[in-house]
Amino acid sequence: HWFVDNIVENKNSYPQLQEAASLLRQGEAVAFPTETVYGLGADATNDEAVSKIFAAKGRPSDNPLIVHIASRRQLEALAAEIPAVADKLMEAFWPGPLTLIFPKREGISEKVTAGLSTVAVRMPDHPVALALIEEANVPVAAPSANRSGRPSPTLAVHVAEDLDGKIAGIVDGGATGVGVESTVLDCTSEVPTILRPGGVTKEQLEEVIGPVRMDAALRDETAKPKSPGMKYTHYAPKAPLAIVHGTREFLQQLVRERQAEGLKTGVLTTAEHQDFYEADVVLACGRRADLETVAAKLYDVLRSFDAAGVDVIYSESFPSEGIGAALMNRLEKAAGHTVIVQK
Ligand code: TXA
Ligand code: MG
Repeated sequence: HWFVDNIVENKNSYPQLQEAASLLRQGEAVAFPTETVYGLGADATNDEAVSKIFAAKGRPSDNPLIVHIASRRQLEALAAEIPAVADKLMEAFWPGPLTLIFPKREGISEKVTAGLSTVAVRMPDHPVALALIEEANVPVAAPSANRSGRPSPTLAVHVAEDLDGKIAGIVDGGATGVGVESTVLDCTSEVPTILRPGGVTKEQLEEVIGPVRMDAALRDETAKPKSPGMKYTHYAPKAPLAIVHGTREFLQQLVRERQAEGLKTGVLTTAEHQDFYEADVVLACGRRADLETVAAKLYDVLRSFDAAGVDVIYSESFPSEGIGAALMNRLEKAAGHTVIVQK
């Protein structure tokens, strides 16, 4: 009963969603679309089901999962306490790409929270995800549906590339929208703290609740991250990737040097600059004039470099404002923090 038979091609095709929901209820792991990236879901109240997520992804067991819900009612069973600031945020951003950290209730699987005293919860803004969770009628623990360390999936075929044969099914809802994962916000600390930048920007949060800060680990690699997942190399393409701060001419020169060494080169750019570069593989990732389009395509483009079999990738850099903060965070992780600055 592998994915090929289980792909649900039409989000309006309710019988297939019911099939996926019943797999979840039976303790199976099923991939599904959200507005950020595809998630690999399992019943958060079932230890054995949750273990299947870790096994399929090859995910370290000390990295906790986000619990996905479809209604505020489901939150009561998960959070021991709901800070006032969280109420405002849920009102403003749920359903949406914002994950909130709550003190957890007794009885929540240790497998989900990796032994922490807190639980991460979000309500995804995607009709298929919401219908699936409602139909399954259980909270759904779901990390991104990629093999650990690979770029997150923004298309059902990405999930199949990584997890075919390892999970019970994939619900195909087409391309996800935002393209980078949700913002993870700890609202139990005195000043709410972004543990992972994502689909909801710092600026948007601050409009609703005032000052928010970025976890120190996001600026300083040596600091201990509060979000365990942030310490792992993530989103990595197979070829080494470097982010270039400088002119297009400078980036092109780097490409020439690598080509002279006999390497197959890749350039990650945007539609505006695509025609400028001469490299073996030049991929446009959205439009620089609209960073949301760059975020939406990033993981797909990283996977395409893998498929093209390049030896080295040079990427343009982007402004770190708004959605650019999440975009640059993911790009820097994909590059293992390799940055080349023009002198
Ligand atoms: O957009 C998303 O958030 C996607 C979709 C599927 O919803 N999910 C996702 O899950 O990105 P995952 O597992 O790839 O990332 C979850 C992040 C990790 O960095 C993890 O360490 C952090 O959330 N996290 C989970 N529970 C936490 C907790 N109790 N405290 C701090 N960080 C937590
Ligand atoms: Mg992930």
